[in-house]
Amino acid sequence: MIIYSRNRRLRVSQTLRSLVQETVLTTNDFVMPIFVMEGSGKKEAIPTMPGIFRRSLDLTVLECKELFSLGIKAVNLYMKVSENLKDNTGKESWNSNGLMQNTIKAIKDAVPEMVIMPDVALDPYSIFGHDGIIKEGKIDNDLTNDALVKMSISLAEAGADILAPSDMMDGRVLAMRTALEENNFTDVGILSYAAKYASSFYGPFRSALDSAPVDNKDIPKDKKTYQMDFHNSREALDEVYKDISEGADIIMIKPGMPYLDIVSKVREAIDLPIAVYNVSGEYAMLKAAAQNGWIDNDKAIIESLTCIKRAGADLIFTYAAKEAAVLLQS
Ligand code: PBG
Repeated sequence: MIIYSRNRRLRVSQTLRSLVQETVLTTNDFVMPIFVMEGSGKKEAIPTMPGIFRRSLDLTVLECKELFSLGIKAVNLYMKVSENLKDNTGKESWNSNGLMQNTIKAIKDAVPEMVIMPDVALDPYSIFGHDGIIKEGKIDNDLTNDALVKMSISLAEAGADILAPSDMMDGRVLAMRTALEENNFTDVGILSYAAKYASSFYGPFRSALDSAPVDNKDIPKDKKTYQMDFHNSREALDEVYKDISEGADIIMIKPGMPYLDIVSKVREAIDLPIAVYNVSGEYAMLKAAAQNGWIDNDKAIIESLTCIKRAGADLIFTYAAKEAAVLLQS
């Protein structure tokens, strides 16, 4: 038998393999999510996310300098809000002297080129741990949009480059875009979590911020009335098209690894940049297996991030960004 076509011919050496490589992962692809807390000189480990910390503002600024020197050009900000500042309206989120606003200003001062992408959502500020304001036992969509608009303007005033709404209310991109334009923030972008699924993979993140929905029979126990049902695929495209028509600049799909079919489908359909969130549960699974010696940490990180890019991601939000940047340098 003569085999004319042999796929192994192009795999014989590393140099040859590199010539035909389709996907190249670089630090330009990464967005690092970071957790900020009150105080100074503070750095607390997050037990569910080995290697990830909550830092006070001063240490956050130092961390951002280090990230930028490693080639990471964007950070996604989350605040650990003290219990006494939480309420049902989330009004601390538009306090012009709040922790988020002060963090944005401090990073802008210290690392002016860093692209700052604050999270826009009420859950870290909500006594109920929901992304929306609760009225008569339900998450009120339009009241929440009004709050998200106030938060957005306040973050833009503080110097945010790109707002990242992760709440999944209907119509919030339009509401935010309109308010930004009216207030002359024409260059502030919106990276919208368009297809964000109600997922069990967010568990470690919620413990990092103490932001899980509270156990109370009068309020919804989960986020299924606003985040997407993981049984659905076509609906993701509908969400994406709506956010684009409302003025989104970048589209987010979340979670990452178990949802790469969605990423690939959206990639075929749209030409806007796509961001994919390699979420806390994905990170925690990898770290747990690596700590047990069941998988190779470094190889698994590079492989999973490369596969997310291969599926169609332009930007990857990942807690492994710093580690991956170091690995890519060597
Ligand atoms: C909340 C928000 C969540 C994440 C980012 N923004 C959690 C949630 O929707 O409950 C999850 C990120 C992660 O798990 O890494 N607006």
